[in-house]
Amino acid sequence: MRYSNSGLKESDVTPEALYHSRRRFLKQTIGGGAALSLSAYFPALAWASLPKSIISKFDGIEQTMAVDEKLNTFEEITSYNNFYELGTSKEDPKRNAGALKTDPWSVSIEGECSKPGTYTLEDILKPHSFEERIYRFRCVEAWSMVIPWVGFPLAELIKRFEPTGKAEYVAFETLYDKNNPLPGQRRRTIRWPYREGLRMDEAMHPLTFMATGLYGKSLPNQNGAPIRLVVPWKYGFKSIKSIVKIRFTRDQPETSWNTLAPDEYGFYSNVNPKVRHPRWSQARERRIGEFLKRETLMFNGYEQEVAHLYKDLDLRKYY
Ligand code: MTE
Repeated sequence: MRYSNSGLKESDVTPEALYHSRRRFLKQTIGGGAALSLSAYFPALAWASLPKSIISKFDGIEQTMAVDEKLNTFEEITSYNNFYELGTSKEDPKRNAGALKTDPWSVSIEGECSKPGTYTLEDILKPHSFEERIYRFRCVEAWSMVIPWVGFPLAELIKRFEPTGKAEYVAFETLYDKNNPLPGQRRRTIRWPYREGLRMDEAMHPLTFMATGLYGKSLPNQNGAPIRLVVPWKYGFKSIKSIVKIRFTRDQPETSWNTLAPDEYGFYSNVNPKVRHPRWSQARERRIGEFLKRETLMFNGYEQEVAHLYKDLDLRKYY
């Protein structure tokens, strides 16, 4: 066991403390011109879910977008999860995280585009520089968090594969090997694999993000390693985890929750305090870590940025 100068065990240093001290360190080095790699400075950081060549992308990440709200802790973000492949309770994903193997990993690009193929995770990530975005995250179950993601805009990835003029939607799938299912996939809670989809203009929107990390580290398995979608103005189930397939389609793709219960989970599923879930109100939410409920914001607070996407849509019908 190693001890730091302060006498604290390494395990006593929380990821947030590391994150904030790293930020301070970054400011100082930018000011002082020192050129130390962060991974060298903080060897304790975990990079398990990403290839070595990608790790350097975490050095000197710039924050490009941030809501001015208190961050949820690393502990909250990584121990209260929905990831049905790893079990249905909130604690299961962390408990069963070891069952998800992220190396090797590849992503299949299919459908209406001129560069289909199977790409290794390294091929997928290499051309992109990573940035940090602090987004609100609102689950359809009426809880929410504020999360510092690391990643890059989905639009940049999409452009590389040159979708054709016929591509109206983008469909995503999570891994599923029926001969070697993850613990939660042994039960047919949903029809595996988990599927999600976006309209092309939603996918190309600058807020739509591919996350590879959070709190300055690679994604923990329970949060959807090694690569997941984050669509901050939609209910959390649209933000599909551990993606292995991206398909450009002409027609609206089948999506897991919408197929299972179309009256409860619409294809769009934009956060909307005025449209009730049939079994509960969406007007308020419980921010994890807070006692009193808070008002839910239209489009989760991103109304200015995204309302134009839906100007021709009756949001009560297309929920
Ligand atoms: N992706 C997959 N593959 N499987 C899932 O069960 N759950 C969704 C979404 N993405 C889910 C998924 C739901 S309901 C939510 S609220 C978010 O992931 C939760 O993300 P988090 O655990 O990182 O907070």
